[in-house]
Amino acid sequence: MKSLLFFTLLFFSCMRISAQGPSPWWQSTSIYQIYPRSFQDSNGDGIGDLQGILSRLDYIRDLGFETIWVSPFYASPQGDFGYDISNYEAIAPEYGTMADAEALIDAVHARGMKIVFDMVMNHTSEAHPWFRESASSRDNPKADWYIWRDGKGRDGKRPPTNWSSIPGPPGWQYSETRKQWYFASFLPFQPDLNYANPEVRAAMKDVLRFWLRKGVDGFRLDIFNAIVKDDQFRDNPFTLHYLPTKDGMKARFQKRIHTVNHPGNFALAKEVRAVIDEFPDRFLVGEVFGEHPAISQFLGENQDGLNLIFLFDMLFFKYEAAFFKERLEEYNQYYASPRVPTFVMGNHDNKRSIGRVKGDLEKAKLLAVLQMTTRGVPVVYYGEEIGMLDAQIPKKDALDPLSHMYKSIPEWMRKRLPVPLNRDVCRTPMQWDAGETAGFTGALVKPWLPISGELQQRNVAVQDADPSSLLNVYRSLLALRKAHPVLVAGDLQIQHLQYRFQDVLCYTRELGADKVVVVLNFSPRSVLWPRPLVPTETLFALEVDENPDGVIRIAPNGALILASA
Ligand code: GLC
Repeated sequence: MKSLLFFTLLFFSCMRISAQGPSPWWQSTSIYQIYPRSFQDSNGDGIGDLQGILSRLDYIRDLGFETIWVSPFYASPQGDFGYDISNYEAIAPEYGTMADAEALIDAVHARGMKIVFDMVMNHTSEAHPWFRESASSRDNPKADWYIWRDGKGRDGKRPPTNWSSIPGPPGWQYSETRKQWYFASFLPFQPDLNYANPEVRAAMKDVLRFWLRKGVDGFRLDIFNAIVKDDQFRDNPFTLHYLPTKDGMKARFQKRIHTVNHPGNFALAKEVRAVIDEFPDRFLVGEVFGEHPAISQFLGENQDGLNLIFLFDMLFFKYEAAFFKERLEEYNQYYASPRVPTFVMGNHDNKRSIGRVKGDLEKAKLLAVLQMTTRGVPVVYYGEEIGMLDAQIPKKDALDPLSHMYKSIPEWMRKRLPVPLNRDVCRTPMQWDAGETAGFTGALVKPWLPISGELQQRNVAVQDADPSSLLNVYRSLLALRKAHPVLVAGDLQIQHLQYRFQDVLCYTRELGADKVVVVLNFSPRSVLWPRPLVPTETLFALEVDENPDGVIRIAPNGALILASA
């Protein structure tokens, strides 16, 4: 009886009034990421393309996602599969044409959805005409468009600073033509633009306007926290860390204070925001990493920076209530309303998150409930909704340039690292059906990457027909978010439970008079959850038995969502 009372009180305990009123669309959206090379091939060359995406838009809409983010498909030598751009205002022929890109924007809008393009502002490809010109001499009109410096030592053959690249090796690259060094935050063929030069800022803002005029709803900004560096070119200070820390701020014995999350980037966020605000209803989401006190500054003190930033903590989750409880509390602290956090479970750079629970589809369902019912914008990477697995690709077959950079690292060590050195593993073709090429391309065509494992079970066709599949759990949850704004915009409060519920995560969401309680059982045992005394409605139940005596049994990996009736 005591615990019954406890839970009844818990249900009605947090009566904070939320400010209500129309909020911008991006605060309540859900994002589905497409890696265009791998989503759908329409012309039988084994490579996904824009027409392919167009043909699958109804699937994404019917699933319930509201915003699509597409990784880059601009003109590019594809050294880093599109993240090395040689023309920001043209489309790579293997993906289609400008007319296809325009048709895609229109077709998404016609379905009542939004589309976000990927924008790589930090660097271009070395094949971009800007870099070709810049690298040709020390005194051409674009000589100062990239970060060029003289080297150290009598012959200038030592790099100007100790700065490492984000993947790890030194970031400075020597040019014999200019007898100078240029900086590349990522790979050597991706030279960083020089944002200390106002001409570069202006040119890039015009690139954004070019696409905004075509109707794109916003941008995902690639390594946005690395763009502005120390203008005095000071060495990064020493730290004992050699291997990269999870927040990416320390690696190779240096603390990246002069190259990552430099305050100049917070100011740049506001400048870019001002550009998109020239157009109605657009938004920005930044790829940034670091600790929350630093990266939350990208949002601006007055909500005048990036609209959202990706929060990557969940990529490295532990399947236990305590882990998520701590993260949600941090999000409440650093991203309290009017800020909005994001909930990212995967992307094209990381091992697929389902691997952290050994491919267990039941655990993946519980994670989906969590992702879709906490505060913030959920970001789902294509294939996550059917539990796609990482492919097993030996390093000799890797296409990812990062894998080649780390070729000396043996296979057994790669398997143990939390991040993939070969990002091909999470970029394999979308699994539409159980056919030879998973419905991604023609049956006789060789897809650009192999199809990953357990195709018979992990494909759209089979899961679509099974009401209890992971795919249908996502569908129900996305529908629930639409039907109950409290799940999207409500305040979130973590409930501190008695010891016997230590592996249960429980939180309430509240919006005005609407109240919802979410209970997630991460423990390997069933829990008996007392039904509140007050009338409630069960909005969603996973692995739950309700007994007439008022006790609810939630099986392992089970979940329950109750709303005040
Ligand atoms: C980002 C992208 C990654 C790319 C890198 C360089 O981290 O997500 O795929 O390789 O930036 O542009």
